[in-house]
Amino acid sequence: MAFPEPYRVKMVESISRPRRDVRERILEEAGFNVFLIPAKDVFVDLLTDSGTGAMSDRQWSALLQGDESYAQAKSWFRFRDVLQRITGMDHVLPTHQGRAAENILFSEFSREGRVIPSNNHFDTTRANVEYYGGEALDLVIPEGRDPRADHPFKGNIDLGRLEDLLRTRGREDVPLCMCTVTNNSGGGQLVSLDNIRKTSALCREYGVPFFLDACRFAENAYFIKRREEGYADKEIVQIVYEMFACADGATMSAKKDGLGNIGGFLAVRDGDLAGRLRNHLILQEGFPTYGGLAGRDLEALARGFEEVLEESYLAARIGQVYRFGEALKARSVPILEPTGGHAVYIDARAILPHIPPEAFPAHSFTVALYREGAVRGVEIGSLMFGKRAEDGSFVPSALELVRLAVPRRVYTDNHLEYVAEVAGAITAAPDRCGGFRIVEEPPFLRHFTAKLAPAE
Ligand code: F0G
Repeated sequence: MAFPEPYRVKMVESISRPRRDVRERILEEAGFNVFLIPAKDVFVDLLTDSGTGAMSDRQWSALLQGDESYAQAKSWFRFRDVLQRITGMDHVLPTHQGRAAENILFSEFSREGRVIPSNNHFDTTRANVEYYGGEALDLVIPEGRDPRADHPFKGNIDLGRLEDLLRTRGREDVPLCMCTVTNNSGGGQLVSLDNIRKTSALCREYGVPFFLDACRFAENAYFIKRREEGYADKEIVQIVYEMFACADGATMSAKKDGLGNIGGFLAVRDGDLAGRLRNHLILQEGFPTYGGLAGRDLEALARGFEEVLEESYLAARIGQVYRFGEALKARSVPILEPTGGHAVYIDARAILPHIPPEAFPAHSFTVALYREGAVRGVEIGSLMFGKRAEDGSFVPSALELVRLAVPRRVYTDNHLEYVAEVAGAITAAPDRCGGFRIVEEPPFLRHFTAKLAPAE
């Protein structure tokens, strides 16, 4: 049965596709880094689902009701109330986006000698943990690291490994445990409520606070409803509440399931902790009732958090991503399965085995998508996660993936069919793709700004 979008289009934005020779020139000018390509030169932009969604007419009209008072604005109370209702957490700290919430959290919890486990840390989360000296440890179940493994909950945390860590290192060294829902860096895969509950119980046993990275909490809840036994008849809002009930706190980029173009928050139950975090908030973001946001943003997000919980919206959203995956498979493009919530991940290692990890196969596929079709995706492989070991050897990423993230309520199935055609053509002629080398790189999050050149 089809789940058509529970909305219709009211306004459109023109997009166009530059000629092939122009695309070649643009790639060179951008140092073969798709983050540096002007958006006007991208035809279908699947770089991210973050902040790229279309707001509803309700959200646009809410902008006009933004209260821009510095302190205790009306918009703040609407934002806070909706999040208190959804998360069940008393203390909500607004931030300008997710990584600001992470920075504030880890300035309190991360230090040299400490380990912060998660299923998979997102790259900004990892960078924030490491910035304060800690180690960001990924403990996703083994099936979550195998693109072909068929498992309904590939984002789950490996409870055995978590218990070993907690037992051997204790709460002094493991001050906090995170869980990313859905598991973005692991393929947007869901985490079951059973796993969230057991992780939470384990953390409680060892006195370690358990936090959700809740960017895509509603998409995760929809998957729980569809796949996990015992939840088929529950409302999404109930499942969401049960997820948050397991956690002592949460960070979130509201640019995803907040259906906003900017925003984030940090929520906690503990009042003392909230007080300490609020001091960081004031220093880094702004007064506690607006954080890094304008009143109008708080208004739009308050509506977004309500709309994202509508099951008909989630069914259409997850259905579109699923159909996109099927369209790629129909053209023999290997993808990570099952398809996740917000994106389809192409397995570039399987397509380009002739390119070694140190020449960035997934990056090569990403460049080809732009060259062949003016399509923008993002590499999640050795350019993002590869490292040099102390002996100078190259430590590749576990997977070489190209993520095609689908913005919310923006593209039609037709756009995604086009992308599948482009990806299919590249897959059919892999020899046309070559490796790359880095010519310039920053010390942190290098994939955002590094410049590359074709390897000889
Ligand atoms: N956590 C997860 C799981 C994310 O996916 C992101 C952002 C963040 C934290 C950081 O949030 O961007 O608001 O600071 N993900 C985007 C992406 C950028 O493309 O996946 P932010």
